[in-house]
Amino acid sequence: MTAAKGLTGDAARQVAAGIREASGEIEALGELAAAALTLDAADAPLLVARLATPPADRRWTALATDGLDGVVLTSVSTRDPSVGHLDLLAVHPDARGEGRGRALVAAAEEWLRAEGVTTVRVAGNPPAYAWPGIDVRYTPAACLVESLGYEREGVAWNMTADLSCGHSTADDVERLAAKGVAIHAAEPGDRAAVTAFVREEWNESWAWEAEQATGCHYATRDGEIIGFAAWGARPAWFGPMGTAPAARGLGVGGVLLRRCLAEMHAAGLSSAQISWVGPLRFYSGAVGARAERVFWLYRRDLR
Ligand SMILES: CC(C)(COP(=O)(O)OP(=O)(O)OC[C@H]1O[C@@H](n2cnc3c(N)ncnc32)[C@H](O)[C@@H]1OP(=O)(O)O)[C@@H](O)C(=O)NCCC(=O)NCCS
Repeated sequence: MTAAKGLTGDAARQVAAGIREASGEIEALGELAAAALTLDAADAPLLVARLATPPADRRWTALATDGLDGVVLTSVSTRDPSVGHLDLLAVHPDARGEGRGRALVAAAEEWLRAEGVTTVRVAGNPPAYAWPGIDVRYTPAACLVESLGYEREGVAWNMTADLSCGHSTADDVERLAAKGVAIHAAEPGDRAAVTAFVREEWNESWAWEAEQATGCHYATRDGEIIGFAAWGARPAWFGPMGTAPAARGLGVGGVLLRRCLAEMHAAGLSSAQISWVGPLRFYSGAVGARAERVFWLYRRDLR
């Protein structure tokens, strides 16, 4: 195992030599993540579990320090096998500042290199990802990867929608009906058709997320599916959603979004996270969502 960069002598070698594969210890890793990820304490075990059950064709591993006080989850991109991802990095608060973070990143890079990866990104690997990048408030993590030569390549954000204000759709549904558009809650028997639509119009990642969603609504015109929205692929998360290009501008997306949010509220949730947002103005205008979590995305070429 490569010695941790920047550490000298025995300390670095001991940390690096003690790192081992821990993909079978998901529950313990979830507890470690909950202790380390203060902004995500409640969700951390679920995030680890989600990263540990990605689509079947993903190559990934969890590497942990000997005392199980540090972990990194890493994976190869599903879209581009020359790209690898650091999906989650956590060191227990009592074990920080002793080189574990640095050694874990080095170990992940070594694993990725052996998998044929030439570029490492600290950016979500869809569809099973924890965050789009490093939450800027996890500043030590940003400092760590910058000290290792990672370059900031972009910014992403999640939005939050308040659910308690109520999101009614009755008028919108009537207005759309007058234009020949019908809105439906997806029953179990409809899921396959909706998933096929998502795969055809967008990609396999979104189809996987739509398949895993708790709730899903879709729109039809002349018997054809023209839009969908889903929620609950992760608890309290909204998305993905999309309207076929030919049906945009009718208000279909706004209605499907509000339908999902109303259902999330009925399920007992008080707010929805809209992850890795594209259309800021759409979500702000349609449901008053606000940009909240901001993430830096990083990359480093392995040489
Ligand atoms: C980020 C984290 C993993 C670092 O773990 P660690 O074991 O303390 O890191 P190391 O001891 O290997 O530190 C290596 C380098 O990281 C940077 N770093 C670590 N802690 C830092 C801090 N509090 N402030 C600024 N830089 C810091 C420094 O560059 C440090 O090198 P230096 O000591 O030579 O300056 C740890 O703080 C953590 O678990 N944070 C919460 C989880 C998190 O933010 N995960 C990111 C989401 S993926």
